[in-house]
Amino acid sequence: MSKEKISFVCQSCGYNSPRWLGKCPECSSWNSLAEERQVSQKLVSFSISEPLLLNEIKEGQKSRLTTGIRELDRVLGGGVVYGAVILLGGDPGIGKSTLVIQAMNNLSKQYGSVLYVSGEESPEQIKLRASRLNISSDRIIVFSETKIESIINHTRKIKPKAVVIDSIQTVYTEDILSAPGSVGQIRESASKLMFFAKKEGIPVFIIGHVTKEGAIAGPRVLEHIVDTVLYFEGDSSHSYRILRTMKNRFGSTNEIGLFEMTDEGLREVENPSEILIAERPSDASGSAVIPSIRGTRPILVEIQALVSPTPFGIPRRTTMGIDPNRTGILVAVLEKKAGLQLSVMDIFVNVAGGLKIPEPASDLGLISAIVSSFRDTPLEKEAVFFGEIGLSGEVRAVSQAEARIKESVKVGFKKAYIPMSNRDRLKNDEGLEIVGIRKINELLEIISI
Ligand code: TYD
Ligand code: MG
Repeated sequence: MSKEKISFVCQSCGYNSPRWLGKCPECSSWNSLAEERQVSQKLVSFSISEPLLLNEIKEGQKSRLTTGIRELDRVLGGGVVYGAVILLGGDPGIGKSTLVIQAMNNLSKQYGSVLYVSGEESPEQIKLRASRLNISSDRIIVFSETKIESIINHTRKIKPKAVVIDSIQTVYTEDILSAPGSVGQIRESASKLMFFAKKEGIPVFIIGHVTKEGAIAGPRVLEHIVDTVLYFEGDSSHSYRILRTMKNRFGSTNEIGLFEMTDEGLREVENPSEILIAERPSDASGSAVIPSIRGTRPILVEIQALVSPTPFGIPRRTTMGIDPNRTGILVAVLEKKAGLQLSVMDIFVNVAGGLKIPEPASDLGLISAIVSSFRDTPLEKEAVFFGEIGLSGEVRAVSQAEARIKESVKVGFKKAYIPMSNRDRLKNDEGLEIVGIRKINELLEIISI
């Protein structure tokens, strides 16, 4: 007879307690613990081979599967690794199912049958989307099922080249007696899929909805289990979508992919730089363009700053897409080393297009935008800025200067303000007028605003 084990699991963070508590000791949320009954506690084991000598392990299939969608392949680190479990998270309606079925279409054409398991939509609804996307592959198998044991059994029989689970919130395992979508169900189902994927070498795409406030467990508890976590973001009122990596065991997490949602599905954005700076005002103050490196490629982004007198005592510093602490440091450097009176000013900083710039190479562009807004004078329209700034106001070298310059030339810029040490080492200026800067004071004089 199977034994029932009762535990109380926090629905927002996954904390497990043998008795009920009003407040979760892990994430401090109130009234979030729910009862979960586990029929028999079977530990999911990951021992899928005997202990082996490293030198004796055969490398197996070396190459990855390519989805034919370059933006997706790059974000995955160069394609789909055999046996990888990839979690694709995002708000409902953002285009997750669309992206995955387009990828499956390409995969099946190249490699063989793929399995699309949907607990959300009926086969007719999936067919409707596929027709809209002009999906022509005759090797996509659609399966409406929510029981994970049955999904895995069928997958074993079909032996597809890749599997999609749309979505993890709708599947359940018999081992736990709680509703689909609860933390316990999500965790157990994902562990089973992970074990299956590793054992059979079949890549599994898991789609997960992100819900606010953790009312239904979002895919956050899953992030520890899976190999790769991608987030599909964007404003559903705009057509552009950004695919980000949050975690990747097989590649960089700095990569992003850009897509546009069209009437015929998602289209890759070939020239992200041009689109990201397309709406840049031509002669407004407070706008600077920086060539930023995301993963393996440079992208031009526009930083906007607004500096205005503080109406109340304490000045505000608000940033979007840029680290607020970094901005605070740069503002302090500007005050101390360049003598700008910023302590009586509110400063707002934004990266246009909803991107995040995590690298200090944006420093020079950021202070140029702040100074430009402070003096209410636009920067040179055809110039880009990059360089890291130290606490004594020195401008430091950054990596991949050549790639940044190349991208700027491609988009049509004529001039670049860069660290002097980068300029000295530069092999090729691609025809761009390069101005080397040593200290921020030099920049403020040169840009003569
Ligand atoms: P979907 O992939 O179903 O989103 P998710 O799986 O993330 O919930 O996409 C839903 C939205 O995308 C819907 O609002 C309609 C839109 N859409 C298009 O604009 N063009 C298309 O070709 C398709 C298939 C969907
Ligand atoms: Mg969907």
